[in-house]
Amino acid sequence: MLHDVSVKHVDVGHFLLTFLLIELLKRSAPSRIINLSSMAHSWGTIRLDDINSERNYHSRRAYGQSKLANILFTRSLARKLKDTGVTSYVVHPGIVRTELKRHMNLGLLIMWKVVRPFTKTPVQGAQTTIYCSVQPELENGAYYR
Ligand SMILES: NC(=O)c1ccc[n+]([C@@H]2O[C@H](COP(=O)([O-])OP(=O)(O)OC[C@H]3O[C@@H](n4cnc5c(N)ncnc54)[C@H](OP(=O)(O)O)[C@@H]3O)[C@@H](O)[C@H]2O)c1
Repeated sequence: MLHDVSVKHVDVGHFLLTFLLIELLKRSAPSRIINLSSMAHSWGTIRLDDINSERNYHSRRAYGQSKLANILFTRSLARKLKDTGVTSYVVHPGIVRTELKRHMNLGLLIMWKVVRPFTKTPVQGAQTTIYCSVQPELENGAYYR
């Protein structure tokens, strides 16, 4: 069912997983929440009047909206969980050779072919997330890339 939701890049997955785990995270404090966003957050705005892009769907803008939502969600978590020992970070991993391209339209696929030699392997792409998982001093709610 979650996969049906993701088709339009609503990206409730980050929110739902956090919501389901939140009491466990609090009991396990100090603990960290790391959300994967993207530099693509700058492609979108939050369209409250058509949040699921039902009236007007554009894949690039919808993806940008979902990635911007990941950042706002992380900042909100940092505020709401202040003093609980649970901290939150949001990451742009770089451009990584994963299966993400299966969702790309022709224009993005052509761009992908051009930039591919400069992209990261999954191991390289995981480094910023690992850094946010283990580095002792980080700024709660911040965006790392
Ligand atoms: N790759 C990049 O260059 C890049 C750049 C910036 C940001 N990111 C972000 O990094 C994150 C991971 O992307 P990726 O590149 O690793 O993509 P990916 O290879 O397509 O992997 C995405 C994973 O998420 C799972 N998934 C997708 N929708 C889901 C849902 N609604 N509920 C539960 N699981 C779901 C997929 O499961 P299935 O395999 O079962 O479908 C898959 O395992 C994403 O948030 C993406 O926006 C990636």
